Amino acid sequence: MNEQQTKWDEGFKAGRDYNPINEILLDSVLAYVDNEKKAAVDLGCGTGDAVIKLAKRGLTVTGTDWSPEALRKAQIRAEEEGVADKVNFQEVDLDKLAEANLKAGEANIILCKLVIAFVSDRKAFCEVVKGLLSENGVFVIQTPVLHDGVEYVPEDKPRIAVSYKEFKATLEEVFTEVIEFDHSYYSDRGDLVTFIVK
Ligand SMILES: C[S@@+](CC[C@H](N)C(=O)[O-])C[C@H]1O[C@@H](n2cnc3c(N)ncnc32)[C@H](O)[C@@H]1O
Repeated sequence: MNEQQTKWDEGFKAGRDYNPINEILLDSVLAYVDNEKKAAVDLGCGTGDAVIKLAKRGLTVTGTDWSPEALRKAQIRAEEEGVADKVNFQEVDLDKLAEANLKAGEANIILCKLVIAFVSDRKAFCEVVKGLLSENGVFVIQTPVLHDGVEYVPEDKPRIAVSYKEFKATLEEVFTEVIEFDHSYYSDRGDLVTFIVK
């Protein structure tokens, strides 16, 4: 494990976790998605909250993360919640997504929640994601964003945020349709955006 990976893994061992995905938002996203909604992938799934919620809505879900501890917890949660038969977990470094054991052209929905800030080459990553999507598949990214010229405080979560302008431009370079599906505002200047792109 590299240093960053070890840090994440130790955080999960110490019991750290992240805000669950909002179920009203998740249902709105699913209602919006116009495809068969059978197969989903959650990239950087942590302890599996969204994986389990998607599985409970009938999808078959692959959760990936590079923290073995997060994946261990996710597997236990899936068993406790009765969806173990609908999910599988894989240890994947998102900077090496192209090497992951994921089939091209099969995912109806790919989710990436609170993770994109940790990906080194976001354009290359988006290109690999595009190749994993089915026809009419969508990539759903939820991320805190930073706006030019605004000063941020730690509560605005600048460390797990990306530049709004730069990231939106990257999405527009790779995908043909970029929708800002939701914004939720938190703290003093925090802006959490849910993009749906295809
Ligand atoms: C803020 S957490 C969010 C977890 C989950 N998506 C959620 O919303 O609860 C970020 C996650 O990304 C994972 N992560 C960070 N960098 C990664 C990388 N290079 N490859 C794979 N996973 C990574 C961490 O292990 C962690 O689970």
